[in-house]
Amino acid sequence: MERLWVVDFGSQYSLLIVRRARELGVYAELLPWNRLPESLPPEVKGLIFSGSYASVTGGPPLPESWIGQRPVLAICYSAQWLAAQGGGGVAESYAREYGPAYIEVCAPQSKLWHNLSPRSRVWMSHGDTITALPAGAYVTARTDKIPYAAYEVPDKQVYAVQFHPEVAHTEEGEVLLRNFLYEICGFSGSWRAEDEIERLIEELRAAMLEGEAICALSGGIDSTVAALLVHRAIGERFHGIFVDTGLLRAGEVEEVLAAYAEVGLPVERVAAQERFFSALRGLTDPEAKRKAIGHTFIAVFEEAAKRHPDVRYLVQGTIYPDVVESGAGVSATIKSHHNVGGLPERLALTIVEPLRLFFKDEVRRIGRRLGLPERFLGRHPFPGPGLAVRILGEVTPERVHKLQQADAIYIETLRKHGWYRCTWQAFAVLIPQRSVGVAGDQRVYGEVIALRAVDSTDGMTAEPTPLPYEVLLEAAQRILAEVPEVTRVVYDLSTKPPATIEWE
Ligand code: XMP
Repeated sequence: MERLWVVDFGSQYSLLIVRRARELGVYAELLPWNRLPESLPPEVKGLIFSGSYASVTGGPPLPESWIGQRPVLAICYSAQWLAAQGGGGVAESYAREYGPAYIEVCAPQSKLWHNLSPRSRVWMSHGDTITALPAGAYVTARTDKIPYAAYEVPDKQVYAVQFHPEVAHTEEGEVLLRNFLYEICGFSGSWRAEDEIERLIEELRAAMLEGEAICALSGGIDSTVAALLVHRAIGERFHGIFVDTGLLRAGEVEEVLAAYAEVGLPVERVAAQERFFSALRGLTDPEAKRKAIGHTFIAVFEEAAKRHPDVRYLVQGTIYPDVVESGAGVSATIKSHHNVGGLPERLALTIVEPLRLFFKDEVRRIGRRLGLPERFLGRHPFPGPGLAVRILGEVTPERVHKLQQADAIYIETLRKHGWYRCTWQAFAVLIPQRSVGVAGDQRVYGEVIALRAVDSTDGMTAEPTPLPYEVLLEAAQRILAEVPEVTRVVYDLSTKPPATIEWE
């Protein structure tokens, strides 16, 4: 299969380049600069060299033996490194260039600049700048401040830009990337994640010839899609296990199990609510609560797994960003929030991660093609330890019930007004602050409910969703009227950082 290799020299945007290429229908992979193979396989039709945190003096070297073999788009640091190495010059910029700049195209005949406006906004992020072009190069774009914002070395198939076309702030970045991938490298742009399904299933079937596989399912999209693929590959040798912790949202167990049934995924529900509540009794420290849940989960899951006599595989919903963050796939890493740490070693299980090369939106598309209902695919993320991290203080069945009621009202209100799909994650939190209220003529004390809704792309950073006041008010009034012993409702306006999305 034809592919693009993106070589990562340590830029914060490297993974974004991969994502952009895939959005343009080109299968792309990220390779760390210090683990590159000697030669380029024929299916690699183009290369993008990323930027870097480093400066050219003392920064990581580019794979020189590859240059000239395939078209290269060199971004920022890589553009500078090639300039310096090829007889040009790079010097520390008198003013660090960070943020927007306007470039002017000087070589409209170049394929890279085809269809770009003569002047457009780009995103710069570098401390060094190119002071002289390398041998055989000509300039293709400049800004007010820098004469060599972009250059080309036609003999070497090098296309170099000092700005970041992969960043959304670069207005016409997509056009430029499209030109590079389609016009220069000759990619067809026809790759779609969901077209990989048959191949994935074949590969899984070949790799899992004997023995049974288990998977801990929680209702999350990644683990569900991973499980579906394995089930399609090995049929009844697959066993899904859904641990009912008692810490899920109102109606969630039924909703999730119904979705599994709808796509024919065999999943056993293990009712373990009592065990979780007794492990949590008396605990108020957030870490202690998480640990208790983690240990209980492993114990329950292990017992359920052992009921299958020939289990050899543990299926996990690890996705590409998890793999890259943990070191570009050198070792199989357990997604910690799946709460099954330690289990593969103890039971001698092989980890199977069918989605390790896919992004979240691709997983969603695969899931859609496999028949998962839209409502399921559109669910907000939910933390592994469940409502326990949203119940500050002790977790008791009564307090879980109280939070479930408030949360259900809030979510229902968001759905009613079309906001559920417009926010990345929304939920209610129960705060054990005794807050005064009035009921009839009496002063009463109840707990506080905080409502949270955030906009985010990956959960790493987040902003509070600007929900309309009337929607918040409607949710708050219903919660105060319908949930006993809640006397106050507040809205959380914190950004991440410094706050986290969850409260514990
Ligand atoms: P925080 O609170 O760290 O959350 O800003 C970021 C995203 O991760 C989810 N989250 C978790 N997910 N196990 C999980 O599976 C956890 O322990 C956990 N803690 C937070 C959170 O819901 C948000 O989407």
